[in-house]
Amino acid sequence: MPNERIRFVELKNRRWDEKDFRRVFAEVQALHHTGSEVSLEGMLECQAALPPEKRTAAVYEAAKRDGRVLVQPRAGVATIEGMIQLLKHLRQVGGADILPMTPDTYTRRLQFESARKGLDESVRTGRSMLNGFPVVEHGIRGCRQVVEAFDVPLSVRCTSSTARLPITVALASGVTETVAGAINSAMGVDQAPFEAAIQDWQYTGRLVGWLEEHGIPITLEYDSTGFASVVAPPALGIIINVVDVLLAAEQGVKHHCPTYVLNNCLVQDLAGTRMMRELCRRYLDRFGFRDSVIYPSANQWHGAYPNNVSEAFAIISLSTFIAFQSKAVKIMVRSVEEGVGAPTAEWNAGSIKATRRMVEMLRNQELPPNKEVDDEAKRIDIEVTNIMDRILEVGKGDVAVGVVGAIQGGLFDVPFSPNPANAGKVLGVKDSLGASRYLDTGNLPLPRDIVEFHRDRVRQRIDAEGWEDEYEMLAYDIRGGRKW
Ligand code: 5AD
Repeated sequence: MPNERIRFVELKNRRWDEKDFRRVFAEVQALHHTGSEVSLEGMLECQAALPPEKRTAAVYEAAKRDGRVLVQPRAGVATIEGMIQLLKHLRQVGGADILPMTPDTYTRRLQFESARKGLDESVRTGRSMLNGFPVVEHGIRGCRQVVEAFDVPLSVRCTSSTARLPITVALASGVTETVAGAINSAMGVDQAPFEAAIQDWQYTGRLVGWLEEHGIPITLEYDSTGFASVVAPPALGIIINVVDVLLAAEQGVKHHCPTYVLNNCLVQDLAGTRMMRELCRRYLDRFGFRDSVIYPSANQWHGAYPNNVSEAFAIISLSTFIAFQSKAVKIMVRSVEEGVGAPTAEWNAGSIKATRRMVEMLRNQELPPNKEVDDEAKRIDIEVTNIMDRILEVGKGDVAVGVVGAIQGGLFDVPFSPNPANAGKVLGVKDSLGASRYLDTGNLPLPRDIVEFHRDRVRQRIDAEGWEDEYEMLAYDIRGGRKW
């Protein structure tokens, strides 16, 4: 069974030893016949041969140094030729700085037979019958062809705890970044038990840690897009990233790219992006990971999109403005066809181009400090610190044990997670300024003044807009009724 995993008896946030790592590596290889072509030594050789401009870590460092903001899309089609042609378009016409390798849903779920059928059908019909690139079907030979066709880094984008083999094949092919995160994927995408998700992502962390020990920097991007961020107050997404960063760092990951999902609310997003990077840094330092590097990234609005590109351009442009002001190292682009379906090459490139133009126009235009942003940041800091304290208390200092226990008790809880272990008592809604507030704080351990602040803001909106039913207001927000 492809989904079977070796479980360790006890869940712990502790670096795996070489024996356990090699054992699980062999188990991951065995998930598909192309896995047997992968070896740690071959992976090292392929990675070591890459020039710096094809490494995400080097490209992020250069962007940081030069004050540039990088632009990265998402994309994937079935065949190797189709993939190269698509990415060439995104690179040459759009100007993407980092290229994606988004696997199809079958590959993400380890349903290789269906991925194979989709690939065969795509070859037969001449059009992609898969919603991404079947990384595992193509194996290292196919994936290396894609990597070799470009002079910029590639990033593999597969957020689920079944991602171990696709990630392994991609890294063995010269891809230098992977999307990652146990809590992110289990809260947002998976129904996997959190214990299993943590152990699955510990494997990816250890693989990347192993490469780091051999002189190969790989970046991990913590991409909380599956999580219902539109109405969730920012502290919740930040906690997910802080925990995932700590879990990865323990396995030896050193280059972290935490992503903030923008809500297109200027004050709150600026406070949230600032606190995401400050809190990741603070907790990394607290646990002794001072040599870890953070490359903050921002994701364009992840709520509902209109079914026309004109309004969608306004949405991604506002996100780009905020991402720029937040001093993100990179912006993850959302296609303007999001309201219609997976993007065509033309509009995907168009979205990248608009994002780049916006960033160029903003060069040297920084907003002055703002007290409202500072106040919002302080509240976010208090919320995250209170909940993280409880997580660490529950785990007696172990963040893996703590987060699982805290989720069980509803001490950490997010709105609308598909994961049955999440309590689902916490609800969020927007206030009159478009900031996300708690409609219900469930069992979250928050100070009373913070809870009251959120309640007041929600009440002000209800009074101003005359809502009779709070849930209708919430549904309206999720449908993207506000702000566009
Ligand atoms: N091509 C382009 N974008 C994709 N996404 C998922 N698969 C693909 C693909 N094959 C995008 C979705 C969503 C984001 C999470 O990833 O459209 O915006």
